[in-house]
Amino acid sequence: MIALGCDHGGYNLLGEIRGMLREKGLELRDFGAFSEESCDYPDFALGVARAVASGECEYGILVCGTGIGMSIAANKVPGVRAALCGDCFSAEMTRRHNDANVLCLGARVTGAGLALKIAEIFLETAFEGGRHARRVAKIADMEVHLLGEVRPENV
Ligand code: RB5
Repeated sequence: MIALGCDHGGYNLLGEIRGMLREKGLELRDFGAFSEESCDYPDFALGVARAVASGECEYGILVCGTGIGMSIAANKVPGVRAALCGDCFSAEMTRRHNDANVLCLGARVTGAGLALKIAEIFLETAFEGGRHARRVAKIADMEVHLLGEVRPENV
């Protein structure tokens, strides 16, 4: 299952991506936005990020104007490794080396043809594991330690 989310800036591009994923027969869960009306990207990043972090969805795709706000917001959720990609090489490498589980795209930066290709590569590329698994595990450790540090008794 793939979680999808966008704000008004990413609405049209996410529509094209949704169409491509449906044609491939993939199961989708849509977290909105459901129109081009102005809205706040963190609201949609949160829904997608939670669905991925909980394991309900294997991957997430988030689209806003630049992809930057979505990636900042999604990466606040422990367990999420969101990667903003504007080229095919980065999309491949972030799956192979970072085991990224959320792809962020900037609709005002990346054209639809390229964005569709990036999404395809992201979803079809496997994590390499090995030394990269050790590094990804260190990111998970950071989350545990940092969450400990922001507990009220430590503030
Ligand atoms: C909305 O105008 C825009 O700020 C948003 O889509 C995104 O680019 C934020 O990072």
